[in-house]
Formats: sequence, structure tokens, C-alpha cells
Amino acid sequence: SAAMLATAAGDVQPIKNVTVFGSGLMGAGIVQVSAQAGCQVTMVDVTPDALAKGEKIILSSLKRTAKKKYAEDAAGAQSFVDQIMANIHQSTEGAQAATKADLVVEAIVENLTVKQKLFAALDEAAPKHTIFASNTSSLKIADIAEATQRRDRFAGLHFFNPVPQMKLVEVIRTRDTSDVVFNSLLQFCRDLKKAPVSCKDTPGFIVNRLLVPYLMEAVRIVERGEASIADVDTAMKLGAGYPMGPFELADFVGLDTVKFIIDGWYTNGDGLKGKELVAPSKLLNDLVAAGKLGRKSGEGFYNYAQK
Ligand code: NAI
Repeated sequence: SAAMLATAAGDVQPIKNVTVFGSGLMGAGIVQVSAQAGCQVTMVDVTPDALAKGEKIILSSLKRTAKKKYAEDAAGAQSFVDQIMANIHQSTEGAQAATKADLVVEAIVENLTVKQKLFAALDEAAPKHTIFASNTSSLKIADIAEATQRRDRFAGLHFFNPVPQMKLVEVIRTRDTSDVVFNSLLQFCRDLKKAPVSCKDTPGFIVNRLLVPYLMEAVRIVERGEASIADVDTAMKLGAGYPMGPFELADFVGLDTVKFIIDGWYTNGDGLKGKELVAPSKLLNDLVAAGKLGRKSGEGFYNYAQK
């Protein structure tokens, strides 16, 4: 069959059982799209409360999709949601939740030590064939993989928010990632109906490496008093064809996240350390210190509470 030929061309390992760590914004999305592709998915978090939040995110997203897909057919919509939810299992058992996994995707807090601790435990608990992937945005994949004895079976799988809507996945290969693992992850992305791109284990991968310095340069234009926030956004939307201006986008991403990423690169990023391109900004730091984090807090560069 065509599938068999594809397998022969670039050896892949089937991924049918997926365990996702973290049921937050990203983890819930990854659980959802994996379940929609027909995988058996275990969603893992530290408390039942966190899992309930993840389930809520998934249910409301699925219901929206079902409403569009089934319009007036309420029974059809319900069975669509039920079938996908039936593929999702929940656990607070930590690494023990991965004993049947073909693939583990980690989407927990952005902290190297915490991620290494999880993967060290997973390395003990998961079968030998299990592929490990991290959804980290700013950490080096090889540094996380160091906590395991399976660096050849470790890669980055970087999704974008909101996961069900955003087509792209960056598949990050370290020096040690094997061909089979890399090809299996590309195939997994296609099974999820995503478009994979690949890159080396370099700060920001492709998207954030370009996007974050661009956002920071927009902040600096305003800091230097050269143009207003609203005019910079209008300029980039109408003059460069971007769907959101840089300040709207920064508010959407979260100003704490933008700050976290540049601070990490400025102090410690391969090829970026100490560069003006990722230098701290007073305007950004002041907003974050005041708890103005963007949309999620009701105010960032713009005030959302008033709207
Ligand atoms: P979040 O804060 O919404 O969710 C993280 C979840 O992980 C929480 O529910 C927390 O309870 C859980 N968790 C913490 N430690 C755990 C452990 N040891 N085991 C199981 N669960 C644990 O975070 P978010 O935004 O979903 O980000 C997760 C990861 O995805 C981070 O590495 C982040 O850098 C990355 N990422 C985030 C994007 C975004 O736009 N927010 C985009 C792409 C990647």
C-alpha cells in the first residue's frame, strides 16, 4: 500500500498511544489534536483540579468545532465530541502514566530543572521504544535530553497557541536525534493534519527567533518616542500585511512570556548572549512588574477591560 511505501522510504515507528504531560493551555491543545487524529491519549497533570481545567479547555474547543461542522445536527455534534473524548484518559500518576506510550509530549512549566526531573523519571518508567518530545519554547532540547539515557529518541515538538487552529509544528532535531525518531515525529505531525518544519536545536527555533526580536524592536521604537503603539500596529497591519500588529501580538502571547524569553537569551542564548537585539527593555519590565501581562490579565500595551 501507499502507506507501506512511505514507511520504506523514511523508516517510521507508529505512534498510536500518546502521553501528554501538562494539561494547561498547550498540553490541552496537544491532547485534543492527538485524540482527534485517533490516538489513545493520556493527559497528565499534578492535581485533579489542573486536569479538570484541561478537560474544560478541550471540551469548549471541541464543542465550537462541532457546532460549525454539524450546524443544526445536535446529535451528530454530540457524538463527534463524545468519540474524541473517549480517546482521552486522565492521570495524576506522573511518569507511571507513560508505561504504554509510543510518544511522550511534555508541556509543563518552562523550567529546565523541573523538565529534567520529569524526563529522568520517564526514562525509568517508559518502554524502551517510547519517543520523548518537549514543547519548550526557549530551552535547549539537548539540555533537557541530558537527563535521559535515550538522547537518540529525544526531540523538540513545538506547537503554537491555539494548538487546534495553528497549522505549524516545529520539529527540532538535536545532534543525537535518530532518523527514525525524526521521521516518526514528522509523520505524527502530518497525522494530526499539521504542517511540520524542521530545524536545529537553536534558540527560538525558527518562528520565535524571528518574531521575538521583531516584537522587541517595536517596543524600542515606542520607548525612543518615535511612534505610538497604535501607529506601529496600524503600520505593520496595513503596510506589511500582518494580521496583528506587534503590540497586539505581544499582548496575546503574554508580556511575561516575551520578557522570560529575551531575558533567557540575553544572559545565556547561543549566539544571542549580550546582544542589543534581545536586551531588556524598561517599558516591558515596568509593565510586567505592574502585573500588566497582556490579554490574560486584562491589560498590557492595551487595556482590554474597557472593551
Ligand atoms: P500552562 O502554565 O498553561 O500549563 C502548564 C501545566 O503543567 C499546568 O497545568 C501545571 O500544573 C502542569 N505541570 C507542572 N509541572 C508538572 C509535572 N511535573 N507533571 C505534570 N504536569 C505538570 O503552560 P503552557 O502555556 O501550556 O506552556 C507549557 C509549555 O509549552 C512550556 O514549556 C512553554 O514554554 C511551552 N509553549 C508555550 C506556548 C504558549 O503560547 N503558551 C507556545 C509554545 C510552547
